Parts: sequence; structure tokens; C-alpha cells
Amino acid sequence: MLENVEALRREIEAEEIGSEAAAEEFRVKYLGRKQGQITDLFKQISNVALEDRKAFGQEVNALKTLAEERLEAAEAALRAPAQQERPAIDLTLPGRGAATAGSVHPITQTLEEITRIFERFGFSVAEGPEIEDDWHNFTALNFPPDHPARDMQDTFFIEPPKEDGLRGIVLRTHTSPVQIRVMQQTEPPIRVIAPGRVYRNEAISYKSFCLFHQVEGLYVDEGVTFADLKQVLHLFAQAFFGEEVRMRFRPSFFPFTEPSAEVDIWWHNPDHPDGGQWLEILGCGMVDPHVLEAVDIDPERYTGYAFGMGVERPALLRYGIDDIRVFYENDVRFLEQF
Ligand code: PHE
Repeated sequence: MLENVEALRREIEAEEIGSEAAAEEFRVKYLGRKQGQITDLFKQISNVALEDRKAFGQEVNALKTLAEERLEAAEAALRAPAQQERPAIDLTLPGRGAATAGSVHPITQTLEEITRIFERFGFSVAEGPEIEDDWHNFTALNFPPDHPARDMQDTFFIEPPKEDGLRGIVLRTHTSPVQIRVMQQTEPPIRVIAPGRVYRNEAISYKSFCLFHQVEGLYVDEGVTFADLKQVLHLFAQAFFGEEVRMRFRPSFFPFTEPSAEVDIWWHNPDHPDGGQWLEILGCGMVDPHVLEAVDIDPERYTGYAFGMGVERPALLRYGIDDIRVFYENDVRFLEQF
């Protein structure tokens, strides 16, 4: 009989209890009231010779204790990981002090301010994708097939143009493709601005970066004239740069506007020999009839103006910054000043 006890001890010691189910199985198998093997041994005590009973009883008791301890230890181990998963939050700890507040990036601030000014003038905000197809970025905007802006030198290609004339996918080089998308989706009158990021493959320096921001403007209706364009841009410049702002329109060229102009503002600068200088802030013009035709708007009935302004230049002027690259470095010492 004692050999049975010894065999059972070895079996119990070798058991692996790796799960709740295994623990339950263990309990039933060894300690269960009906068929538990240790319980069985107790029942067999009457078969043991009288003089051996005491020793046998002690052995079986020890075995029972062993089995119970193994079970308890295994169950404790099974519960432990669950306890570790619970977050160790001590609600009684004192706080670490207020988190440092973030600030709105100066480019975003400038974009928002420009947007708010045009919203006051009755423009709504439109958006378009930064990854554009050639048609929206160039073709529909009346760029001839061999226009230098379509060159790899200036444009980042996601998919390069193909031999068979298929023209590829680009990072938009300006916000003007949003004009096309809006005109495709809306009947005139249309009055939108489109703020966003644009990309150009330019040499990086203090005055140019491979990405920058623009705000596009578009107004299409019956009887829109260049005078309306001058008026709205003058009102904008006054709102943004101040009542006293001096601005001038210079004749220019864009494939998608005719006639076209560039707008400069006079920037006072006592350090400059002339007491200031003319700085270009935007391009503009009357929407070219070819562009209206490309989006099925009747150029005999409708006219429109469009403009596109950079955001970095006004932001540099406004905050007295002389290097465009700091806008993209995200140096907290720079950003927290805004
Ligand atoms: N898209 C032109 C640029 O990026 C700006 C522009 C927009 C000019 C609308 C005229 C009309 O330079």
C-alpha cells in the first residue's frame, strides 16, 4: 500500500497545472470526493494491516497536503498575470504639475487668419487632395504639354509620365487644381478659397522649401470683372497688413488666367536703402476661357477671377522671421514663441 502512496506522490509532483481547466482536472483527479485518488486511498485504510494504519494514515495525509499546496500555488500563479495587467495607478499620488500647453503653428495661424478674412467676404472653404493627377494639376489648367513646370525638375512625381502619353500622378505643385475640382462639382455662382500644402522640387534655402502653403481663391459668376478682383485683394491686404497698405498689380502670365497679374505690397524696412521694398505676395487673373471649357462651364455666359497666394511669405513678414526653414524644423524653442 505504501508503494501506491509513493507512486501517487511522484505523479502529483510531475503534474503540470497551466490553466484553470487543468487545475480543476487536478482537483477532481486527486482530491475529488467521489473518485479522487487520494480520497480513494483514505477509503482503503481498512485494508491496511492494523499495525501499519497509523503510518499509512500519516503518509496519505501528507500526500493530501502536498496536492492541496500544489493546487493553491498553481491557482495563485494563474491569477498573478491578470493582476499585473491592471494599470498601476495610485490615485493618491500628488500631480506632476500642469502639462505644458502647446501652441498653434505660425503657418497654421496665418492660414487661419487669411481664411477668416475671406470668409467675411463671403467665400467658403474648399479642399482637394495633395496627391493629384496630371489632368487636374496641369492639363485642365491649360498648361501646354511641354510646359517647363511639368518637368521633373520642378514637380515631384508619384507616378512618372509614361511613353504612351499617360501623364502621371504628382504632388500638387499649387492649389489651383482645387479650382478645377470645385468647378467640376458646382454650378456658378462659385466663391471659394482653398488653403493647403503644395510641393515643389526646389533647392532648399532660407527662402524656399520643398513644401509650402497656398491659399487659392476662385470666384465665377455672370459679369465678374478684373475690377472685382482688384477690389477683393485690396480689401484683403488692408485686413491682413493694415489700412495703410500700399499694393501694386504687375502684368504677369499664368496658363490658366488671362489677363494675369502679380501683386506686390510695399514692406517698410528702415534698414533698407529705399526705406522698404516691394514684395510679391500672390498671382492672380481672370479665369482663362479654356479652363472654363475644360470643366463644362460656358465661357460665353460666365467669367471669373482666381488668385493664389503663398502663406509662408506673409508669415515671415508678420513675425519678422528671415529663414523659411524654421517653419518645418519643429524646434520647440521656436514654436513655443507663438
Ligand atoms: N497657381 C499659381 C502659382 O502657384 C498662382 C495663381 C493662382 C495665379 C490663381 C493665378 C491664379 O504660382
